[in-house]
Amino acid sequence: MSTSIKAYVFDVYGTLFDVYSVKKVCEDLYPGKGEEISVLWRQKQLEYSFLRQLMGHYTTFYQVTKDSLRFSLEKLHLPFSPKQEQQLIEEYRRLSLHPEVKNVVEQLSDKQRAVFSNGSRDMLEPLIHQSAISGTFDAIISVDDIKQYKPTPASYFHAMKALKLERDEVLFISSNGWDISGARAFGFKTAWINRSSQPNEHLDLQPHATYNDLTGILEWL
Ligand code: LAC
Repeated sequence: MSTSIKAYVFDVYGTLFDVYSVKKVCEDLYPGKGEEISVLWRQKQLEYSFLRQLMGHYTTFYQVTKDSLRFSLEKLHLPFSPKQEQQLIEEYRRLSLHPEVKNVVEQLSDKQRAVFSNGSRDMLEPLIHQSAISGTFDAIISVDDIKQYKPTPASYFHAMKALKLERDEVLFISSNGWDISGARAFGFKTAWINRSSQPNEHLDLQPHATYNDLTGILEWL
């Protein structure tokens, strides 16, 4: 694969960690509703980040995650106390690592390794530090540094500058098709981790490579 690559840059939510692992606590609190809450919560979380970016009305991804949870519970007519709300939000600091991630990321030690996420540091740092990949990354980069959400060009530019690299020196890795399209439009090499066998996004910005899970990235060693 391309020899210009000097860094593997990973999206976090969905790519390294399973955002739907919140389902268990959701199910404990709301029996029979765990799956529905977890899916609506993620969908609304992304929608709010896109809308806030378009409106120029930024707030942190922690707040967006809180706001999207409230919407989801209200939409499903599920009552919640501040304690229950905090219990659910805290799950975003304890998401499950996808099973193949530790083994793959540890092998990718031939280049810089970084995470680049919409997540704010008050979410990202506890999540990564409590996980089996703590200490693996050379950099944890958050869009909160510049208050511009992915997939804006400014956000990928920020990640590139933080790593002191050029566009074609970055392999950007995400399970989110919209994020891959944004990174491709910016000029990164892109690898889509299509965990849930989705169709390609019709944005005329195809990934350079597509894999079912992170194992495929080992081709880039
Ligand atoms: C991330 C989410 C949006 O940026 O996937 O990690």
